[in-house]
Amino acid sequence: MPNRDLKTKSRSLHLSTQKITGMVLSAKEKAYKETSSEPEPEFTKKLDWPIQCTVGPGLEGAIACESETGYVNGAKGLLIYRGYDIFDLCAYSSFEEVAYLLLHGRLPRQEEFNKFTKKISEYQSLIEVKRLLMSFPVEELNPMAALRLGVNLMRQKQIYREKDDAEFISDVIATDEDSIPMETKPMGEKRPIYEFVDKQFARSEGIDSCYHLIAELATITASISRLRSGHLPLEPDPSLSHAANLLYMITGKRPTPVEERIMDICLILHADHGMNASTFATLVVASTLSDIYFSVGAGIAALNGPLHGGANEQVIRMLKEIADTENLKLWYENALKNKKRIMGFGHRVYKAYDPRARILGSLAKLIAHKNPEIENLFRISQLLEKEVISTLGKVKKVFPNVDFFSGIIYSALGIEPEMFPLIFAVSRVAGWTARVLEYLKHNRIFRPRSIYIGPFNQQYVPMEKR
Ligand code: ACO
Repeated sequence: MPNRDLKTKSRSLHLSTQKITGMVLSAKEKAYKETSSEPEPEFTKKLDWPIQCTVGPGLEGAIACESETGYVNGAKGLLIYRGYDIFDLCAYSSFEEVAYLLLHGRLPRQEEFNKFTKKISEYQSLIEVKRLLMSFPVEELNPMAALRLGVNLMRQKQIYREKDDAEFISDVIATDEDSIPMETKPMGEKRPIYEFVDKQFARSEGIDSCYHLIAELATITASISRLRSGHLPLEPDPSLSHAANLLYMITGKRPTPVEERIMDICLILHADHGMNASTFATLVVASTLSDIYFSVGAGIAALNGPLHGGANEQVIRMLKEIADTENLKLWYENALKNKKRIMGFGHRVYKAYDPRARILGSLAKLIAHKNPEIENLFRISQLLEKEVISTLGKVKKVFPNVDFFSGIIYSALGIEPEMFPLIFAVSRVAGWTARVLEYLKHNRIFRPRSIYIGPFNQQYVPMEKR
């Protein structure tokens, strides 16, 4: 019976819309007639794809924009933020100073630095966003999905920024209680937030949103970690640095100076890295004049993949799978035989040793001895590194990348593997937002093209005749 109803309905719909079908077909006829003298567009002709192309698969070689934010020289193994060598920044600077440098283009003077860190510290306390987050089953969500959710909630909070906070919380709680969605007071946006349209965005409101995101991603990440392990989120301690606060809010313990310094260097090292996949995803969304929260959400989604920021989690799983230095040779032989990707190795840009892996390797050595299990993983990593460099390194210039040692360090600092990509995002948000502000000064929507290799002139066959 229901099937017959459906058929009758679709036939009557079809009859009543015949006029529209006729209109579409006459528009087709007109379109073909008007452009019949135009030559075939070049991109439908045969190209020597992918060989004789300046741009390769995965957009290899393509230039997305000019940038003063950062530079990677893959042949020399150099990484520069705003003209400063990453080794110098790790030796002398802090994540807060580097975030300021990326956003503002220069190192801060003392009073600017004080003002910036005060704002970051204020924005880190996120009671209402945390309460909202806790109304979702965070422990059941993929942690990166939970982080994206957190960014959406931040965005919502931003919309209600002018409203009294207490009013905002009570509205939200009302929707959480025994009501069903249909019964609740509409909470939709009163206005679309296309902040990017405003020319002032990059100078005032925009910078403030970037500060928010840099500050709050740390609190949201720590809250997700706490909720996943069955604990209540902690409020940040304003007397601590960004790195120390992140560790404190995750583990519940104030880190030692060495732990804090190591975390700080990890955050510096991950803050920016040229036109990587997540930065590009962030910029693509920003270039449509969507908003900074949607843009950063896209960055988080792109970062999640195991070929990008999700690799650090996979490295620890791989080292645990190898389990013992004695198993290494056989494991690696099998991996090569089965053409397995070795996680934490290889890079689109670096054809020399990644400078970030150089620093992280020595930090991993410094901290791994704290725990025998982690020390064992570190020993395996050292042997694996030797094997890969002497084989894939020689032939294909495949070396350790930033993700190879970071997981060992995070494990030693008491962070669970599924949280590693979130720690990456806590840092990379500085680069994402800095590059969005920079790109928007001369915005042009991203719109590459693909080479069509499908057929033409297919005749549409109705369903019942296929
Ligand atoms: N293990 C084994 N072989 C590798 C690896 C690896 N990790 N990386 C590259 N190769 C080999 C490839 O098999 C390929 O060999 P071929 O030319 O004989 O086919 C050659 O090196 C080039 O590799 P591509 O995949 O073409 O390099 P691409 O630039 O497209 O990919 C990527 C770069 C995704 C990082 C790749 O090296 C990889 O998958 N690495 C493992 C995942 C990883 O660690 N990702 C984190 C990267 S750092 C970051 O995003 C933060």
